[in-house]
Amino acid sequence: MPSWLKNAVFYEIYPQSFQDTNGDGIGDFQGIINRLDYIKELGCNAIWMNPCFESPFMDAGYDVADYYKAAPRYGTNDDLKRLFEEVHQRGMHLILDLVPGHTSVESKWFKESMKAEKNEYTHRYIWSDNVWEGFEGVKNISGCIRGISSRNGCCATNFFSTQPALNYGFVNPQKSWQFSPESPEAMATRKAMKDVMEFWLQMGCDGFRVDMASSLVKGDEDGSANIALWQDIRAFLDEKYPEAAMVSEWGQPDQSLKGGFHMDFLLQFGPSGYTELFRTEHPYFSREGKGDVKAFADKYQEYYDATNQKGLICIPSGNHDTPRLGGLLDEEEIKNVFAFLLSMPGAPYIYYGDEIGMKYLPDLVSVEGGYDRTGSRSPMQWDNTVNAGFSAAPKEMLYIDLDPDENRPTVKKQMETEGSLWKEVQKLNALRQAHPALQSEAALKFVYAKENAYPFVYQRSCGEETILVIHNPSGQQASCEVKLDGWGEVIYANHGEAVYENGVLTVPAASATFVKIG
Ligand code: NOJ
Repeated sequence: MPSWLKNAVFYEIYPQSFQDTNGDGIGDFQGIINRLDYIKELGCNAIWMNPCFESPFMDAGYDVADYYKAAPRYGTNDDLKRLFEEVHQRGMHLILDLVPGHTSVESKWFKESMKAEKNEYTHRYIWSDNVWEGFEGVKNISGCIRGISSRNGCCATNFFSTQPALNYGFVNPQKSWQFSPESPEAMATRKAMKDVMEFWLQMGCDGFRVDMASSLVKGDEDGSANIALWQDIRAFLDEKYPEAAMVSEWGQPDQSLKGGFHMDFLLQFGPSGYTELFRTEHPYFSREGKGDVKAFADKYQEYYDATNQKGLICIPSGNHDTPRLGGLLDEEEIKNVFAFLLSMPGAPYIYYGDEIGMKYLPDLVSVEGGYDRTGSRSPMQWDNTVNAGFSAAPKEMLYIDLDPDENRPTVKKQMETEGSLWKEVQKLNALRQAHPALQSEAALKFVYAKENAYPFVYQRSCGEETILVIHNPSGQQASCEVKLDGWGEVIYANHGEAVYENGVLTVPAASATFVKIG
């Protein structure tokens, strides 16, 4: 594991919406550079930036047209290199978003691949050999593109119908046009992606968040073929770039970490119990107090045991695909969410704007393939100047509309206000940095996580230090009978302190308490 990951706290930047410096209504690399000190002040030391490569932006850049070129709207490759340097000067790290599974229909690779005459790219994508033959029922193929190529055949897609699937092969190939994952055709795609990774690593990026990482080899029912593929990429990276960090969009750490990823996300899909924490009808972290944490804790424990701490299970505050916390929960509730996120193992990921409780905006018209995700992608709210300090462009030119609420939260206001959500996130980040037992690899033991019950208690330990973390997000005082390993100094309490007497733990309403017990 790269040493810098041991205590990394990530900040996810959606570059379109973070900071515009050239007045075109869309964010850019220079804007990110200008805000690095801000991110550091919040207490994050690593950044994941969503795709920033040349693209027609039919899926916000997850449809790459040229893997080797920064999208001009963000800046040049040299600007991106400068961003890496500025990040490193501050002792921080930045990972790019790698989209290895598909390109845009506008990629040169795809245009060549559509041609009837054979060329280097003929097998770069998954094509049937007859335009009428599609891919119904094949795992990890979403649909197909047909009727736009001179070549006879259908091309598989991965997500939207503008995202043709690259060819990493099939498990048990059945048809003449299906290749095994080890075939020269599939290996050529793998090599092409290694070249892309190498290009950016050499330029100074610190690793990759990998889009749809479990879906490259098709028809892979148990995930083993994709695990093998990533093990091979891991071996390649270990040899040349051992400090390059890899995080997967996979959502099943028992598989992805076996594949050599250092980190995997718990996601809004997949069997992780993540959604139940903040985003169901009755989320656990709501004051309403009708949630359940047991499903999450059980699944987490299963992953934790299966991965044997060989890699990190990462819990994001949200991301560009999920509804924001703000809107689902209020600021006080979100404080408790962060007390949880920043005291769990793994590397926490904070989605830009979640640190001030930016709201999900349900009424926005889809922008660049966002659809219902657009409401989580609105411009960062920095201050009360023009366009909330995001951009000097006329309002109509903004890439996505701002939250129209005149009382929308801003970074400036929250940084000036004692007791704000921003201050709480900063405090929790500082606490995490100060206590090894709260960091990524420190051991976790669930102490109390019962079905439909509050509180929720776990213990973190590292070396001599042990910290008990006690959550009661519900609006009622909660208590439980529990045998604790000890009690000691309260190092964090956001709403009154939990008390332990005669074997009973009593926890104030809507609170989190951290107790150093060793
Ligand atoms: C997952 C990404 O997070 C999402 O934004 C994108 O649309 C799909 N993968 C397709 O690449």
